[in-house]
Amino acid sequence: MAEVKLKNLTKRFKDVVAVDNISLDIEDGEFLTLVGPSGCGKSTTLRAVAGLENPTAGDILIDGQRVNPLPPQKRHISMVFQSYALFPHMSVESNLAFGLKIRKKSLKHKSEKVKWAIELLGLSGFEKRLPKELSGGQRQRVALGRALVLEPKVLLLDEPLSNLDAKLRLRMRTELKRLHKKIKTTIIYVTHDQAEAMTLSDRLAVMKDGKILQVGTPEEIYQKPADIFCAGFIGSPPMNFVSGERVPQVEDKNAMVGIRPEDLSISLAETKDGIVGRSSVTETLGSDNYLYVDISDLLISVRLKPEEKIPEDKPVWLVARKEKHHLFDKSTGRRV
Ligand SMILES: Nc1ncnc2c1ncn2[C@@H]1O[C@H](COP(=O)(O)OP(=O)(O)O)[C@@H](O)[C@H]1O
Ligand SMILES: [Mg+2]
Repeated sequence: MAEVKLKNLTKRFKDVVAVDNISLDIEDGEFLTLVGPSGCGKSTTLRAVAGLENPTAGDILIDGQRVNPLPPQKRHISMVFQSYALFPHMSVESNLAFGLKIRKKSLKHKSEKVKWAIELLGLSGFEKRLPKELSGGQRQRVALGRALVLEPKVLLLDEPLSNLDAKLRLRMRTELKRLHKKIKTTIIYVTHDQAEAMTLSDRLAVMKDGKILQVGTPEEIYQKPADIFCAGFIGSPPMNFVSGERVPQVEDKNAMVGIRPEDLSISLAETKDGIVGRSSVTETLGSDNYLYVDISDLLISVRLKPEEKIPEDKPVWLVARKEKHHLFDKSTGRRV
């Protein structure tokens, strides 16, 4: 286990600034996720920690040691990619043992570690199978096992669940979380999927355009997003945004007001401090129903109470208590 520190890390590819002066302290044993849209610099950051990219500027410290000059194999890290190619002609056992073999570990050490991984990952009975004889989830577990048998101080995971179908992805999420509880290895996880990031992580670092915009626990970021981007990126359906002058109790044209769908209530009768709109469709997402309301050019989502039914195309009034408003400065995007 180890702590990881990024200090003013920058990576440029010619005129593209992939990572723009980021600093981040990851605690020993922590599950930290870099989350943000495609192209925001997540993989480049992870690859720099792994030693696969040379930083343009800044330092990477693992357990207090500056690792910039060290090649990947000397950093005590393991990485699992989205395209976790297993060796197709090798059994599960041989795939798991491969890294130990090239590191010239003893036979005893190899068989012990492989046995440990097989048990840890629930692969008993599958030792002799080839990758093509496994399910997608089992293959993903072998890829994880291959990284874990090397006893890394830090485990780096780059969108490891993206290739799995939705149902399996959900199951692997739970498995990963349980696995981390058991092994307590420091994990840096990369995903563009905010729901995945929210459910797995101790803390998230929200990235955009090569920068880290906010670091915090899932609750902190959800409850108190630092800017409009984080507010809109974390949470589904996303937070609604209405210009300040259109919101009763705010009426500030420089403010952007953010309101989560669950913080709005709806009334079919005119209400004081309500914003009038027209009801549109209701969307059912499993246990929750969301009504969409047209307010001239905006479409606002509102979480309905379990038994609440609102007919389509009727005038409705939206109300959010003032303490549920998130206020942002329109010009900087920052929370005020
Ligand atoms: N080897 C490379 N050469 C040139 N540009 C690159 C290279 N790798 C990444 N980039 C660019 O850097 C930016 C960040 O990429 P990446 O770290 O892969 O983002 P993410 O993983 O968040 O999707 C993108 O604009 C991407 O096109
Ligand atoms: Mg990536």
